[in-house]
Amino acid sequence: MREVAVGLLGVGTVGGGVWELLQKNGDLIKNKSGIDIRVLKVAEKDGGRKKTLGISDEVFTEDPMEVLNHPDIDIVVELIGGTTVAKELILSAVDKKKHIVTANKALLAQHGVEIFDRVLKKEVEIGFEASVGGGIPIIKTIREALVGNRITKIIGILNGTSNFILTKMTKEGIDFARALEEARALGFAEADPYLDISGGDARHKITILSSFAFNTVINHDSVYMEGIDGIDIKDIAYAEEFGFVTKLLAVAQISDRGILVKVHPTLVSKENPLAAVLWEDNAVMVESDFLGTSMYYGKGAGARPTASAIVADIADIAGRILSRGEYNSKRYAFFSDLPQVSFEKNKARYYFRFNVLDRPGILSKIAGVLGENRISIASVIQKETEEKFEHVPLVMMTHDAVEEDVRRAMETIDSFPEVESESRIIRVLVD
Ligand code: HSE
Repeated sequence: MREVAVGLLGVGTVGGGVWELLQKNGDLIKNKSGIDIRVLKVAEKDGGRKKTLGISDEVFTEDPMEVLNHPDIDIVVELIGGTTVAKELILSAVDKKKHIVTANKALLAQHGVEIFDRVLKKEVEIGFEASVGGGIPIIKTIREALVGNRITKIIGILNGTSNFILTKMTKEGIDFARALEEARALGFAEADPYLDISGGDARHKITILSSFAFNTVINHDSVYMEGIDGIDIKDIAYAEEFGFVTKLLAVAQISDRGILVKVHPTLVSKENPLAAVLWEDNAVMVESDFLGTSMYYGKGAGARPTASAIVADIADIAGRILSRGEYNSKRYAFFSDLPQVSFEKNKARYYFRFNVLDRPGILSKIAGVLGENRISIASVIQKETEEKFEHVPLVMMTHDAVEEDVRRAMETIDSFPEVESESRIIRVLVD
């Protein structure tokens, strides 16, 4: 039996899942892959985890350097998270010629170029399947199953917490704050849930995914991001009347100008399969030239799904190092140099909600500004409200429009005295 020795950095929720999976399914992995994955060292600062997980004194340590300096360890699995200590440990492990498996999306999105560079220089391997889409094998799919395809577009529901909150608001009519409380109680929100609701977590994931789908460096900070914290249940309800559901989508799309990568709340037609992705589930739709449209669906968070992806990476890397083939220097290299297109040039249909005085001429005044900015209205709903309210919601769907034109129009409309508070806009997915 071929053996591979592993060291774990961190056995919190996800690391604990990896430990459990290897205890429970180690024999199955041996039978399926012919590889015996042996955990030689586990470094964890919370001493209580030793007892909870039943880790022996010989294997457990509080010092990560014992993992990095262990001469027999081939693969270091980083599950500490964060972008400071984790980065130092990964780079130091690479320098010691250890192979890496990590779920650290923030680190790879922000410092991926440096890490992949070092990995290539030291001729080691890095697995990061668990960084995007939890247990869904989407990284392997785009790099291996779709190797013969030119990918043109990726649309992902990549943040389980946001998807849970939006599903809860839609199905139960409860407001954002209450839905967030419930998501946190279920435990799949990030330690700082602002990362989930601001779109930050989805931005990390689409940065990594699109870099490998389009084989180009994506600048994380230039990826447009808008979260779900501004979504009102009123907008979810009006959008439903137009036949749409509200989702937080992460999209990367290629055009003649380059690549546009963005994360924002989006109205998705009820007919689109993405509309059926509910609660904390994730999904990724990929458009490519030979396969066409394909979709990948599953659990995007949680100890067990994430552990499933990590162990697959360990087995994959173990298979590669044990077969002692020539090192593939193309594996983590970005050979395309695509410019990143500014979100101002984004083209979409739009949903607008204005809160306006119910007076003659207001609708035509707003329509006039939209027309001057090349924005064509597709449909309008005006709701009657009780007489005690002076303002009424005026809701519109547009045909295709360009973001910079929409922003200009909104600035003018929001300055009208008849329009109360900032108008709401939500972009619509064009199928
Ligand atoms: N907070 C993340 C989510 C966990 O809700 O999707 C998985 O990355």
